[in-house]
Parts: sequence; structure tokens; C-alpha cells
Amino acid sequence: MALRGGLIGCGFFAQNHLHAWGDVDGADIVAVCDRDDSRLKEAGDRFGISERFNDAEAMLAQTDLDFVDIATTMETHRALAELCARLGVPVICQKPFAPTIDEARAIVSTFAEARLPLMVHENFRWQTPMLAVRAALDSGRIGDPFFARISWRTGFDVFANQPYLAEVERLIILDLGIHLLDVSRFLLGEVESLVAQVSRTRQGIRGEDSATMLLKHVGGATSVVDCSYAARRDPDYFPETLIEIDGPTGSIRLDPAFKLTVHWPGGTETTEVGPRLLDWASPPWHMVQESVFNTQQHWADCLRNSEAPSPSGADNLRTMALVEAAYDSARTGDVVRLAD
Ligand SMILES: NC(=O)c1ccc[n+]([C@@H]2O[C@H](COP(=O)([O-])OP(=O)(O)OC[C@H]3O[C@@H](n4cnc5c(N)ncnc54)[C@H](O)[C@@H]3O)[C@@H](O)[C@H]2O)c1
Repeated sequence: MALRGGLIGCGFFAQNHLHAWGDVDGADIVAVCDRDDSRLKEAGDRFGISERFNDAEAMLAQTDLDFVDIATTMETHRALAELCARLGVPVICQKPFAPTIDEARAIVSTFAEARLPLMVHENFRWQTPMLAVRAALDSGRIGDPFFARISWRTGFDVFANQPYLAEVERLIILDLGIHLLDVSRFLLGEVESLVAQVSRTRQGIRGEDSATMLLKHVGGATSVVDCSYAARRDPDYFPETLIEIDGPTGSIRLDPAFKLTVHWPGGTETTEVGPRLLDWASPPWHMVQESVFNTQQHWADCLRNSEAPSPSGADNLRTMALVEAAYDSARTGDVVRLAD
């Protein structure tokens, strides 16, 4: 029997969730919820889902669900997740997990007390190119990395699809840098200290639209994590993350168009590590869209096999701590040490 899921929030990014759930083995979305009638109707009609609700409490009361997928923006995550926990329903929740780490901690405690599975939909670590970089590191050819640069820079108008981003005080680190900080942990491990610098270039927005962060990882490796929504470039590689990693015996490069080069004493190998083009996906979004499928398939597999998801809510607190540290550092100019 397939797991029965309910999706809350039928907005811009949830369209990818709904398409991907259609491809996931072992789980179906049987109910959708949005407080906006037109978005609810559009999603229900498009994906053939007849159980439709304006209110999450009503959806949970009237539908028998094995999990809930929360795809609303962050301000609503805590209340919705806690509602699910009260009713004993596991949750996968979009990033940012919450507006602040204190709220994210509260969600994690609630789920720990209820002994319920909780995953954050952190899809960058599930991108096919990122998994290929992780596999190249695991092959041991370059040794233990001592340096990485993780870079995401674009002039793509993110505000067109997500107008609410123009209003937030904490913009690119919390919205996009959070993915890259998670990738830095995924590739180089936990972080000891961090220093950050931010700037705002675009007119008419409240938050920072560029950030550069310098991280010292446990064990001594350094990473530079940089992102910008204000980089005018041609070609523009949106939405690709470019990566350079150096180790004692070689290097790994993830270059534009998903070109992965591993150089080590045995030679130099270049491969294309692009995503599959799913039949509902379209460039330039296809890599992101495939990672949404990968993330959701992983969640369904973990739920069915009673395994811990990656990242769990508790794991994502460590990424949230880096976000908070970056904002603290940008404000004070100081290096921020992370708690153990
Ligand atoms: N992982 C990624 O690559 C990625 C990319 C884009 C957006 N996101 C994340 O996805 C989340 C959603 O972003 P979006 O751009 O789709 O937002 P959106 O505003 O387009 O959609 C959110 C929807 O949730 C509904 N909603 C809000 N509160 C609700 C509630 N309490 N009950 C029912 N419905 C409610 C709104 O009516 C809206 O339709 C954000 O957290 C964003 O950061 C992730």
C-alpha cells in the first residue's frame, strides 16, 4: 500500500512537489490544502486530487494521512508542524525550516517528544551533481579535502516567482545561502567558526542580495561559500552551484553544464553529471526539479523502512546555526564560533 500524504501550500514551488510525488514510488498525495481558493482549485484540478481543504486542521481531521508535506513559506511552518505532531503525523517541511533557529529547535523538540519522523526538504544535497561530487570525495582519490569553494551567483530575477523575497529583512543567506551552507557540511563536515560579509545591490528590496562566508571546518579544512542574486553575467549559470575542492593528492571541479573533473595521481577524468530530464521538468529548472523528486523519494523510503531521513530536523538545526552565525558575523564583523 502506498503511503498517503497531504500537501499544505499549493504555491510556486509546490508545483514541483506535486509533479514529483506523481513519480515517487510508494507514496501518493491524497489531499491538498491552501488558504487561497484559486491556488487550491488550480492544484487540485491539475493533479487530479479531489480532497481539498482551506484549513490544515480540517484536512488532518477528515483525512487519514501517513505524512504531511509542508510547502508553505517559513512563517507558518511551526504552527503547521506542531499541529501534525499533535495528531501523530510525520512531516517533511520545506526550507527555511523556520524564520529563527529558536523556532526550528521548538519544532525538533516537539517531534522528538512525540517520537515522530521529521525531515527538512533540503534538496541541494540531493541534486545529482552534488551526489556525484560526494561520490568523488568518497572515492578517496584526492584525499581529505583542505579547501572548497561553493559558489552560486546569478542575475536571474528570483523576485518574479517569489515576490515575498523583496520584503524579507534576512534575504539571500536564509533563502539560498542556507542550501550552500548545508552543502558545505555535506561535503566537508561540521563547522568550527565562520565569518561573513553581505551587501545589497538591487533597489527596492529590504534584505541582503549577496553574501560571502568563510568557514573553518572541524579538522581544519576551509570553505568559501558565496552567493548573489545581483551578479550580472553572460552566460548566467542559474541555478547551478559551482564547486572547487582541493585535497592533498588532487582536486575536484564541478563546472558549468554539470561537468565534473577529478584530477588525481592516476590521471584526470571528466564526466557529465547532469540530472535526468523528467518528463514534467524544463531547463533551466530541471536539475532542481529532479532533486525535489530525489528528496521526496528518499523521505518515502525512510518512512517505509523506519530509517532516519537526510537531513532530519535535528540535522538541519546545524545548518540553521550557520545561518544565524553568518548574520551575526555580518552585523558585528566578528568571527563567530559554533557550539559543539
Ligand atoms: N528548495 C528549493 O529549491 C526552493 C525553491 C523555491 C522555494 N522554496 C521554498 O518553498 C516554500 C514555499 O515557497 P513558494 O515560493 O512556493 O511560496 P508561495 O507563496 O508561492 O506559496 C505558498 C502557499 O502556501 C499557502 N499557505 C500559506 N500559509 C498557509 C496555511 N497556513 N495553510 C494553508 N496554506 C497556506 C499560500 O496561500 C500559498 O499558496 C518556501 O519556504 C521557499 O523557501 C524552496
